[in-house]
Amino acid sequence: MMGSVEIPVGLKELLQGYTVEVLRRRPPNLVEFAVQHFAHLQENQRKQHVKKHTIKSARKGVSFDTPSSKTAKDNDEEEEEEIFKSTACKYSRRVSVCAEAYNPDDDEDDDSEPRVVHPKTDEQRRRLQDACRDILLFKTLDQEQFSEVLDGMFEVLVKPEEHIIDQGDDGDNFYVIEKGVYDIFVQKDGVSVCVGKYDNKGSFGELALMYNTPRAATIIATEEGALWGLDRATFHRLIVRNNAKKRRMYEAFIECVPLLKCLELSERMKIVDVLGAKAFEDGERIIMQGEMADCFYIVESGEVKIMIKSKTKAGQEGNTEVEVARCTRGQYFGELALVTNKPRAASVYAVGETKCLVIDIQAFERLLGPCKELMKRNISQYEDQLVALFGSSVDLKH
Ligand code: CMP
Ligand code: CMP
Repeated sequence: MMGSVEIPVGLKELLQGYTVEVLRRRPPNLVEFAVQHFAHLQENQRKQHVKKHTIKSARKGVSFDTPSSKTAKDNDEEEEEEIFKSTACKYSRRVSVCAEAYNPDDDEDDDSEPRVVHPKTDEQRRRLQDACRDILLFKTLDQEQFSEVLDGMFEVLVKPEEHIIDQGDDGDNFYVIEKGVYDIFVQKDGVSVCVGKYDNKGSFGELALMYNTPRAATIIATEEGALWGLDRATFHRLIVRNNAKKRRMYEAFIECVPLLKCLELSERMKIVDVLGAKAFEDGERIIMQGEMADCFYIVESGEVKIMIKSKTKAGQEGNTEVEVARCTRGQYFGELALVTNKPRAASVYAVGETKCLVIDIQAFERLLGPCKELMKRNISQYEDQLVALFGSSVDLKH
């Protein structure tokens, strides 16, 4: 018979941490993963101990290169989070063939290393800023980080049929499109299938750098174009590190979005890694009816109203708009055009100050497949709303 057993302080958290990482990464071998996981924790503990007892000023590196705005607590938290990540990377479903595993222990050196700066003319910087304005991965960076990203980018001119990225290769750079059309090919059952394209905007090449995996797709230019590249090390230092913060900021919210319940935890975290946040003023138009779609939205705070152009008696579009619905925190919109491959079926406006999380069409296709059935089921509700408003039947799917 067991008497009362005292549970050691910290045991619950320790086991919970391990469980969360297992659910997140789904390692093939639980015992091996446990050994690695706890060995890293121990190593981390040892380092924290040494760090606390090391006189800060004795660290190598020059002070003007070290971002001053960060507190030691920030750095510690990030380091911990990224240690989890580096352990987990080794156990991601794909086996990494990349040159180096991301080592968070190098981060302090990263901070004290000179920043990569590719000098640019005023004209180049203006073009670069234009190209980067809507890049979702940059939307959660602060001003200083963003300008460091711009400094680190370099221009790449491309020719028709040039392979920018080949599936299976190691990841070197992340790319932002300034101009040009780029086809996306993914190998399916040994056959290369075109799964989409980038048309004069967007970015690609983040996956291999974020998760230390081989390139997941082949990207081929169909015409002359121009790209801006960001090297792997700078991408890690600025974007991957920022992702640790993003996970802390959005993890709880994403867990409460009903639509995303059909995904696994690790899939929801991948959404957090690639999403951007956009703020809109009262009355600002977020989506315009009739335009082509390139992203999907989830309301984080505030409210949006969905407006549809009224119909004339002859069934043609009128000039006035009629409100059909509203969405608040946790609800989504802008999925219909992505699911049906048709232009936007309605316009969407912010009601008061509103913040939305934004996911681009490629990430939507890649990550939200399991939620599509649920979305499709809602289309008949939209059709019913329109019948109630305009009287005649509407087919939004075809
Ligand atoms: P990465 O794997 O580094 O290199 C190929 C890139 O193609 C990938 O990052 C994504 O940015 C982009 N991509 C676009 N669509 C897809 C897709 N369906 N699957 C995988 N990668 C995609
Ligand atoms: P999308 O067509 O991409 O852009 C407008 C969005 O409004 C649409 O996706 C839906 O998410 C949303 N919406 C809400 N109610 C309706 C409705 N009754 N008809 C069409 N779109 C609607």
